Amino acid sequence: MKNIVIFASGRGSNAQKIIAYFKDSDQVNIRCIIASKQTAGVLDLAKANEISSLVLDKQNFNNTDDILTTLKECKTDLIVLAGFLWKIPLYLVKAYPKKIVNIHPALLPKYGGKGMYGHHIHKAVKEAKEKESGITIHYVNEIYDDGEIIYQTSTELSNDMTADDIGAAVLKLEHKHFPRIIDKILLP
Ligand code: GAR
Repeated sequence: MKNIVIFASGRGSNAQKIIAYFKDSDQVNIRCIIASKQTAGVLDLAKANEISSLVLDKQNFNNTDDILTTLKECKTDLIVLAGFLWKIPLYLVKAYPKKIVNIHPALLPKYGGKGMYGHHIHKAVKEAKEKESGITIHYVNEIYDDGEIIYQTSTELSNDMTADDIGAAVLKLEHKHFPRIIDKILLP
């Protein structure tokens, strides 16, 4: 059995798709959900699916490697960042080389880096009058949105789309492809 630990900060729609995708799998298990805040919707999702969860303390996460004990106990094979908005500290990148994957709602290297998340991205894409946007699934290294790209796919944009419309089109791609790519990474 391969164990996934999901890190998330928000509502958790990607986490939900990943949980649903592997629900009946006898090879992949969603072992734990780790949230960056107590109010993250993803915690309700954990509860509803009887997946253990915990909430991180930012100081502790950045300044100690306590979380490694939990990840070890979970026999973690892959850490999946599904809308996790904190930077991954170096000790964690080093402990899980090529074992942390992130989804970014834009075509990296465009629209990446600090402050580029969620709606900010789609607003910037709209303002730049881009003809397309999309998703990037990549390994996580010590630099924001910089690790090796595993998969990208795009969608065409039209002039009349709002930033929210762009976000919705990109989210559709995330939901469609992220679980499938995770599956491929774990069981090539
Ligand atoms: C997703 O669109 C994800 O790509 C994005 O946050 C959203 C989380 O939605 N991540 C980033 O912007 C990371 N830089 P969700 O909680 O519904 O899955």
